[in-house]
Amino acid sequence: MQFSSLQNYVILLALLCGTLTPAGCLNFSYPTFKDKVDEKDFIISTNSSIAMGAIRVTHDASQASINNESGRVLYKKPFRLWSGRNKASFNSTFVIKISNETNPGGEGLAFILTANDTLPEKSDGQWLGIVNANSNGTAQIVAVEFDTSKSDEQDLDDNHVGVDANSILSLKQESLTSYGINLSSGRDYNVHVTVLYDSQNLTVFVSNETGEPMKLSLALDLSHYLPEKVYVGFSASTGNKTQLNCVRSWHFNSSHIHEKPNLLWVWIAIPAAVGAVMLAGVASYLYSRRRLEKESLEDAYPRIEEEIQSTSMAPKKFKLKELQRATGRFNPKNKLGKGGFGTVYKGLLGNKEIAVKRVSKSSRQGKQEFIAEVTTIGSLRHKNLVKLIGWCYESHELLIVYEFMPNGSLDRFLFGEGKLGEETLGWQRRHTIISGGSTSTRLSSQWMREESSSPRYKSQQHHVRLGFHCQAGGLWTGSYPSAK
Ligand SMILES: *[C@@H]1O[C@H](CO)[C@@H](O)[C@H](O)[C@H]1NC(C)=O
Ligand SMILES: *[C@@H]1O[C@H](CO)[C@@H](O)[C@H](O)[C@H]1NC(C)=O
Ligand SMILES: *[C@@H]1O[C@H](CO)[C@@H](O)[C@H](O)[C@H]1NC(C)=O
Ligand SMILES: *[C@@H]1O[C@H](CO)[C@@H](O)[C@H](O)[C@H]1NC(C)=O
Ligand SMILES: *[C@@H]1O[C@H](CO)[C@@H](O)[C@H](O)[C@H]1NC(C)=O
Ligand SMILES: *[C@@H]1O[C@H](CO)[C@@H](O)[C@H](O)[C@H]1NC(C)=O
Ligand SMILES: *[C@@H]1O[C@H](CO)[C@@H](O)[C@H](O)[C@H]1NC(C)=O
Ligand SMILES: *[C@@H]1O[C@H](CO)[C@@H](O)[C@H](O)[C@H]1NC(C)=O
Ligand SMILES: *[C@@H]1O[C@H](CO)[C@@H](O)[C@H](O)[C@H]1NC(C)=O
Ligand SMILES: *[C@@H]1O[C@H](CO)[C@@H](O)[C@H](O)[C@H]1NC(C)=O
Ligand SMILES: *[C@@H]1O[C@H](CO)[C@@H](O)[C@H](O)[C@H]1NC(C)=O
Ligand SMILES: *[C@@H]1O[C@H](CO)[C@@H](O)[C@H](O)[C@H]1NC(C)=O
Repeated sequence: MQFSSLQNYVILLALLCGTLTPAGCLNFSYPTFKDKVDEKDFIISTNSSIAMGAIRVTHDASQASINNESGRVLYKKPFRLWSGRNKASFNSTFVIKISNETNPGGEGLAFILTANDTLPEKSDGQWLGIVNANSNGTAQIVAVEFDTSKSDEQDLDDNHVGVDANSILSLKQESLTSYGINLSSGRDYNVHVTVLYDSQNLTVFVSNETGEPMKLSLALDLSHYLPEKVYVGFSASTGNKTQLNCVRSWHFNSSHIHEKPNLLWVWIAIPAAVGAVMLAGVASYLYSRRRLEKESLEDAYPRIEEEIQSTSMAPKKFKLKELQRATGRFNPKNKLGKGGFGTVYKGLLGNKEIAVKRVSKSSRQGKQEFIAEVTTIGSLRHKNLVKLIGWCYESHELLIVYEFMPNGSLDRFLFGEGKLGEETLGWQRRHTIISGGSTSTRLSSQWMREESSSPRYKSQQHHVRLGFHCQAGGLWTGSYPSAK
């Protein structure tokens, strides 16, 4: 990892820590509801729907019976209501239309905030889809109810608004009658509602289309009743008395809250992240160092091909695979000899016998020597000189391919091996071999030229000398160059 990318990583980490607190605020606006299209935005209970441009919280009248029903429609995404001591504020504005199906209608509709998106069973009738007999008093829910039925003795009347928390018992309620508002007057009119929460007080404004709004306000700490993340939406119910519970438009926005960072988390996460960064740094440093080492090994012999191919009589370049196949993967059985430079293997290239000199990795023979050997021996033509066929440099393998000499090294013929019956060559014969008939002059002059023009080849003189081989008894024999 480079310093700049490490820096970026740290900055990214800092940013992540800063925004650990996903705002989770909501801002949406439905001036009207599009059938089908908007359904995907909501969690809709069985008997609820979006139809005819409105949310129908309970069944529409077209159904055979709409008695004893409850329903819930929640906005799909919850929002963050509070975190630590930070509390969100919101503004929920909607238009409801309640049409009595009986005389009078029932039971009511409510704007709700809840963490539970599941409609409670048996929450019909007086429960308004808010709670049921079991969860009344324990459920985590806050509701602003628009009650059209005095189903409980605690209810003010059959036309009131109330604020409920955890139960259907209203913390505060207000009749709408004196404000000229009749929730289910039987006339087709809209009730406009604004529910404002400023993190301390909950305020509800209710009005008919034309008149002054009724205002109900109470101090309410929603974090006392609700978890941090809640859904917003509507619930409604019918009982023996029925009505159509519609929401015709809805605008909602809530504020961002800066989540109080969990310090424990931070104290664990930051050292962990720093540790991870350092580990990553060390790992990447080691990795890049290893890579550098590897690269420098590879770079030890750069442009080896260029240098070889630039000589006039460039020998053939072999693929490592070919030579591996030819020598049976450098099978020890095919070993012809071993020296300080490495090992010579016998191989079969097509039907042609070859000798492959494999420069050992520990050998001092470097690139220059390798190139010198390939180019000088490769460009020398002497009938008594072992013929260089090609070379290979791949995967750190330096390989030189010679014609195969069945009789072994020239040394044996020059110096013998001290074995009985093995004769050394006589001086006369040695001369004949070296002069090689008519080619001798050409050989020496060419060698002289190479020698003088390439001072770096000086050390090769020795090798070339040993590269000569002799014809003894009609059989070729020779020493592979630089065997000493
Ligand atoms: C909320 O959404 C409305 C459009 O629906 C947009 O005009 C308004 O700028 C948004 N407000 C914020 C605070 O994102
Ligand atoms: C509605 O439920 C009540 C019990 O809560 C029951 O007495 C009544 O018959 C039901 N009404 C209808 C129409 O099913
Ligand atoms: C849904 O409506 C059907 C038919 O009116 C009724 O039987 C059922 O109880 C209702 N479900 C709920 C959860 O209100
Ligand atoms: C709602 O959004 C408006 C601007 O779109 C903004 O002025 C207002 O403060 C927001 N209300 C809340 C409760 O965030
Ligand atoms: C609440 O939202 C409604 C509709 O978006 C807007 O008319 C009203 O001014 C807002 N009230 C406050 C206090 O933000
Ligand atoms: C709704 O209530 C009014 C009186 O308040 C009544 O005249 C009307 O018939 C009721 N509607 C239905 C469908 O029962
Ligand atoms: C959500 O409400 C349903 C129905 O009342 C209930 O079965 C379920 O246990 C509640 N889930 C949570 C997490 O309170
Ligand atoms: C609902 O619960 C509240 C508070 O726990 C209680 O005062 C009220 O009587 C209950 N209502 C019913 C109908 O059980
Ligand atoms: C609401 O309107 C209906 C029909 O006009 C009437 O019967 C009922 O008494 C009214 N309710 C109130 C609380 O004024
Ligand atoms: C909440 O209401 C109380 C009294 O109704 C008032 O004193 C207080 O200033 C209000 N808080 C805010 C934030 O408006
Ligand atoms: C709306 O309310 C006002 C009082 O604020 C009242 O005078 C008026 O008659 C009401 N309009 C309807 C259509 O109910
Ligand atoms: C509903 O009506 C039935 C009779 O049809 C009655 O027995 C029952 O008590 C009523 N339920 C309520 C909650 O009013």
